[in-house]
Formats: sequence, C-alpha cells, structure tokens
Amino acid sequence: MTQGGLFISFEGIDGAGKSTHIDALAQAFRMQGRAVRVTREPGGTPLAEKLRDMVLNDRMDAMTEALLVFAARRDHLQQVIEPALAAGAVVLCDRFTDATFAYQGGGRGFDLSLLTVLENMVQDTLGAKGPGLRQPDLTIWFDLPAEIAASRLAGTRAPDKFESQPLEFFQRVAAGYLQRMIASPGRFARIDAGNARDAVWQRVLDAVRGRGWLT
Ligand code: TYD
Repeated sequence: MTQGGLFISFEGIDGAGKSTHIDALAQAFRMQGRAVRVTREPGGTPLAEKLRDMVLNDRMDAMTEALLVFAARRDHLQQVIEPALAAGAVVLCDRFTDATFAYQGGGRGFDLSLLTVLENMVQDTLGAKGPGLRQPDLTIWFDLPAEIAASRLAGTRAPDKFESQPLEFFQRVAAGYLQRMIASPGRFARIDAGNARDAVWQRVLDAVRGRGWLT
C-alpha cells in the first residue's frame, strides 16, 4: 500500500451525492491507520472560504469567477494540500480544478485555454520538488443526468447561485467533466451515481482498492 501522500478529488454536478461517500472513504482510510485530511473547494482555508462565499453568492462574470476560484485554490494548495501530502496524509477534496473546467468552462462558456494557463500557474508544485503540475492521483466523478440531480436537489435547501441554474447549464457542466475525463482517462473513475447508494459506495471502494490504496 502506498504510504506517500495521496490526493483524491470528488466531482459531479450539484445533486450528484458525493458528500456521504467522502466521509465514508475518510473513515475507511482512518481504519487502516492513515492520516486523512478532508477538505473542499472553493475553500479549505480561512481566505479561500471567504472567496467561496463570494463565488457562491455574488454576481460576477465567468472570468472573475475563474480568477477567484484559482486564487482560492492557490491558497488551499499552499496552506493545506501540499503540507498534508508532504506529511504522507490522504487528502480527500470535495471538488478541484475539474470543477472549474466544468462550471466556468462548460457551464459558463469561459475560454478553456485560459483556464489551462491558470491551472499551470496555480498548480505548479510550488518549488518544493522542481517543476511539475499538481493533480489529483484519482478523481472520482459521480455522473448523474442533470434531470435526476435537479429532482434530488429540489426543495432540500435554498439554492445557491449555481444550484439555481437551469437544466441546460448542468448539461454543459456534465459535458465539461466528460471532456476532462477523456483528456486524462487514467486519473478518472466515473461512477454512475444514479444507482442505489450502497452500489455507488461499492464502486467508490473498487476504484480505490483497484489502485492498491485500501485493502
Ligand atoms: P458544492 O461543492 O456542491 O458544495 P455544497 O454541497 O456545499 O453546495 O458547491 C460548490 C459550488 O461551486 C458548486 O456549485 C460548483 C461550484 N464551483 C465552481 O463553479 N467552480 C469551481 O472551481 C469549484 C471548485 C466549484
């Protein structure tokens, strides 16, 4: 089993149901003696949480959104993710850069090549280990048709700026995730989130066990 740091991100459109599985996976790693850091984006540090509040609630154009989520990501990487990985922890991150490509790129139509420039700047391994791009070791994508996600979300709580977007927005977000998976197939585990919760959890475990990270 890998004892170096491990970086796993969780993605999907709003309503796809990632949260319970993130907590369960944290528990599974802890049971096997691993240190686990559960975190989220945008957010994960005091500064990045302030930026999250703006991104989720204030009106702004797609470029402003992209700049703010990448600013939050830079702080999160420096303050939390890189130190945790260097200490050998398992970092479980609720959303990462694929969400920016899916939401600001796919959903809002912002230029993907500019997002790539920002990705390369922000995820440079911060000088610690020479040049390199920090990416998750594994990205678990909870894939669910936008119609089903919308019906799951309906009435559960007051929707934020993204959750109140129309169905077509989430169809574009899902297409954005698919493009990211096609570009990096080895990094992604796509899970049909329309199945029963237990079956989805089994797939999550399979993805992690299949890589030898849990027994
Ligand atoms: P989410 O992760 O779903 O948290 P919660 O369960 O508390 O609603 O909410 C984060 C929202 O931010 C989600 O709608 C996706 C959006 N988002 C972006 O638009 N770009 C990004 O880069 C990230 C990380 C998230």
